[in-house]
Amino acid sequence: MRNKVLKALLDSKGSFISGETISSSMGITRAAIWKHIKSLQHEGFIIETKPRLGYRLVRIPDILDRTALLESIDTIIMGRNLEIYDIIDSTNNRARELALADAPEGTLIVAETQLKGRGRLGRSWISPKGKGIWMSLVLRPDIPPDKAPGITTLVAVAIRRVLNQLTGLDIGIKWPNDIIVNGRKVCGILTEMHGDMDKIYYIVVGIGINANLEESDFPAELTKTATSLYISTGQTVDRRSVIVQIMKEIENIYYQYIKYGNFEAILDECRRYSVTLNKPVIVIGRDEEFEGFAINFDTDGSLLVKKQDGTITKVISGDVSVRGREGYV
Ligand code: BTN
Repeated sequence: MRNKVLKALLDSKGSFISGETISSSMGITRAAIWKHIKSLQHEGFIIETKPRLGYRLVRIPDILDRTALLESIDTIIMGRNLEIYDIIDSTNNRARELALADAPEGTLIVAETQLKGRGRLGRSWISPKGKGIWMSLVLRPDIPPDKAPGITTLVAVAIRRVLNQLTGLDIGIKWPNDIIVNGRKVCGILTEMHGDMDKIYYIVVGIGINANLEESDFPAELTKTATSLYISTGQTVDRRSVIVQIMKEIENIYYQYIKYGNFEAILDECRRYSVTLNKPVIVIGRDEEFEGFAINFDTDGSLLVKKQDGTITKVISGDVSVRGREGYV
């Protein structure tokens, strides 16, 4: 009922809707409607009430509400099958569980906080409640498994576009999966794949965006390398709009890629905004570490690094971490 009342308010798009209209379409009393309006107001929805005119939704609070989010997402596939959690261990875990149970492509899991948020290379990911965007998307691309790293590149390009459009900030991409503002990380992408030698069964793309975190939300060891959109602009962002736009942008780029296989255009955009290319880098692998100069991306999205002896090494994202010689970027 609460969701139906909210949907009626959302559908009237900022205009008044009378208690009578809602009550006759839902078949409940006006007193019951009033009770739901009060509880929505209590949750933080700003709803104007006027005698004879009824109710008008003025502002949606910054909580991730399934009804409100579904109403705003204007995609065909991405995010249409949606689960929202207040608390979860990791959205990637839940997405994997659903993917194994045949969840459709585009299934999206979003959480207000994660107790066991994961990053690449076994690192943990901090996910303070209500401050960031912690979400995972299930994809089922019909492409060979060796092309899977391209999905991370494509998602990074989509996120970079959206964050730049929404904030006007200069946003960069640090190969292979970090989104950067002012030399610090604002978003990380964790792509996990399940497949065999010749087929991808599913890919879970985990996206962590430090949206409205304050300096004090980061542990001391991250303050030099991590930032948030709020810290960078001085303004909070509407997390719902960020999610809505990212779903739209991923949908555009992803289906273009799957349909026409044109990865070169995506790579070109990645080159344009790369904070890794044309810089001295240190490549830290599981067993070896070496220095070199990041010269280009190969056609599959791997990083080409020229070593001091002139040889060129192809670095595949899998198990490596890349750092600028001077620091994080
Ligand atoms: C990284 O930079 O190492 C990747 C970070 C990915 C974090 C996101 S938050 C939502 C999703 N759930 C997780 O447990 N991790 C990803």
